[in-house]
Amino acid sequence: MHDWKTAPRNGQTRQENLLTQPLRNFRAFNNPKLVTEGWYPLCSVKEVRRLTAKSFTILNQRVVVYRGESGKLNAMDAFCPHMGADLSNGKVIGEEIECYFHQWRFCGSGKLTKIQCQEKLPNGVQLRSYPVEEKYGTIWIFAGDKAPYPVPNPPGLDGKETVGIRIARRTLFVHHHIIMVGGIDMQHFGTVHQLDINFNFDISEKHEGVFDWKVGGEFPKLGWRAKLGRLLLGNSLDYQARFAGGSVVTLSYGTNSEKKQSGFKFPQVHIFWGNVPLLNGVSQSDIHIVMEKRAGIWGRIVNAALFAFTIALLFLLRDDDIKAFPYMRFDPKTIIPADQSAFRLISLLDKLKLSPWTPLDDDSKT
Ligand code: FES
Ligand SMILES: [Fe+2]
Repeated sequence: MHDWKTAPRNGQTRQENLLTQPLRNFRAFNNPKLVTEGWYPLCSVKEVRRLTAKSFTILNQRVVVYRGESGKLNAMDAFCPHMGADLSNGKVIGEEIECYFHQWRFCGSGKLTKIQCQEKLPNGVQLRSYPVEEKYGTIWIFAGDKAPYPVPNPPGLDGKETVGIRIARRTLFVHHHIIMVGGIDMQHFGTVHQLDINFNFDISEKHEGVFDWKVGGEFPKLGWRAKLGRLLLGNSLDYQARFAGGSVVTLSYGTNSEKKQSGFKFPQVHIFWGNVPLLNGVSQSDIHIVMEKRAGIWGRIVNAALFAFTIALLFLLRDDDIKAFPYMRFDPKTIIPADQSAFRLISLLDKLKLSPWTPLDDDSKT
């Protein structure tokens, strides 16, 4: 077996075997040339301090994010509409950003507010601006003009106040849609994780482009994993997955945590990934652990313990799953009934709305 730790993460397999095993291109799913409308993580909140600016690239789109004096973040296209300097080289003054080159100034909505050398502003100068949010220690940009929903919570934390910790950034072996499908690929629970469970699943759509999977199944009677599972989680393993905008995936484990044998109620744990496509068909993933906000010293102790447990769970699942991806060229050619859950997600992701950052000449844009 190849060592997955040292296998290259460069997307090269997309170019291989094209003559003997032609690759099927989907409209949006696993399509390395486009960005779907959704929330994309840019960096840690600490990387854009008050009165500073930074630019980022998502696939072929450069955006600038700056934080005004009040602490409010703004995001817009990065190139100055005068002669194209990257605005992140400029200065943040109050709530506005001033281009370094000829000191044209813009407010957060992208409107030109001032020109150094003349009073009268030229007509029609407007930068495109984007919704931007800070959540779970990360700055997120919405790849579209208006965000129909905020950066989502994990499904088990709907309506609750949350805290989140950004724990790592990883380059994936494959496009992030493939990793998402892994979250609800029922066959691999047995083959990869040795969890011999007959899972049921139920799908709902929360907003346009936001899909929730409710998954559950009885633990088998035999085997140490099943016994440990029964002890900690009750007779069944339940979890919920939420996929938002093709960029975010979040899992809540232990939905049915009241059915304990031991009488001990294990709190739910939540993992949250924000993904960005890179140029070469692989992706980058920012990983977060999210919890319900708990007050007081006891609350802090509970959250610290939960955090440690979630990290352990993350390592356990990651080491199993990640070995499937090196040198993989994802292309579902033979679908059987057991692939139903995975295939439903593939078809839903394939219908997602495309971002204005997707090239117009791409015939997949609808
Ligand atoms: S290029 Fe920005 S002001 Fe001239
Ligand atoms: Fe897995």
